[in-house]
Amino acid sequence: ESRQRQKLLELHEAATVWFEEQLRSPEGATAREYLTGRGLTPQGIAKFRIGFAPDNFNALRDRLKGMADEATLRATGLFSFKELEDGKPGPLYVRFRKRVMFPIANESGRIIAFTARALESGDKAGPKYLNSPETPLYSKGQVLFNLDKAKQAIRDAKFALLVEGQMDCISAYLAGIANVIATSGTAFTEAQVRLLRRHTTQVVVNFDPDTAGANAAEKSIALLTEEDFQVKVVTLDDGLDPDRYIRERGVPAYMGALRGARRHTDYLVERARQLFPPVTAEAKVKALNYLLPHIRRVPSRIARDEFAADAAQK
Ligand code: CTP
Ligand code: MN
Ligand code: MN
Ligand code: MN
Ligand code: MN
Repeated sequence: ESRQRQKLLELHEAATVWFEEQLRSPEGATAREYLTGRGLTPQGIAKFRIGFAPDNFNALRDRLKGMADEATLRATGLFSFKELEDGKPGPLYVRFRKRVMFPIANESGRIIAFTARALESGDKAGPKYLNSPETPLYSKGQVLFNLDKAKQAIRDAKFALLVEGQMDCISAYLAGIANVIATSGTAFTEAQVRLLRRHTTQVVVNFDPDTAGANAAEKSIALLTEEDFQVKVVTLDDGLDPDRYIRERGVPAYMGALRGARRHTDYLVERARQLFPPVTAEAKVKALNYLLPHIRRVPSRIARDEFAADAAQK
């Protein structure tokens, strides 16, 4: 392990501790209220090492600057800086401010990045979620959020529950569904498939019931089935994401929804029927054209024929 990598891990650990301290401090009161309002207990907050970045451009830098030189601090992605006229980097400013900090761990549980949620909404607060940039430690598509905590449970349950958001993942985990992981708001990537393969080849996908979620689900299904995973899909009603569903309907209702997971083929046929209601010949052609790439992708001949026959019939 390179020395820079080691140092970057130490800096992330120190930053995590600092954000945790800030959440407990008087300045963290609003963030604590926010998290309580989202149903998080102090135990849940501690388990996921959730913290708070105060509205301060310098404090985190001052805390970390004794630990590493400036180039290493820049490489953490925790700071932003302007390029000066001579081409050199300018002074470091803290990237994350007035945000709830969710640490992102690698598979061994070491913190390698953060995703930071705005406390306020509106233009002034910037994007709802702000993530660490790509760094020597972190590449967004190569991490599965919560895999470090979930991997044993995934092996035991013989499947992984895949959700979009960190909050979806945290809520499900704290509700006792320990085999849950999150993509962090994108479709599954090949690197993530390789990570997950070591633990299971069965996935239940439960993305948000909105357009972005449906598109990400479709891409994830494509990638996973091509890699010979068995994929089931859950769609929650009333536009609720898993986090809100668990909070508003309760854990037993959510478990019920999970038990209702459909085979990905049934899900896709249903989606084709919704996108192109098969009442005219043209719509039927469109629906089949939508399904064809998915059918072609199924590696097993028998399963593929069955999928094709079902699609044609429906
Ligand atoms: N995301 C992101 N950048 C954004 C919005 C979302 O990286 N600007 C990622 C985050 O990982 C987030 C996930 O996509 O957890 C799901 O996004 P979304 O469904 O929009 O999050 P919400 O459920 O709306 O977030 P919250 O529950 O915190 O209100
Ligand atoms: Mn949203
Ligand atoms: Mn969404
Ligand atoms: Mn949500
Ligand atoms: Mn959501």
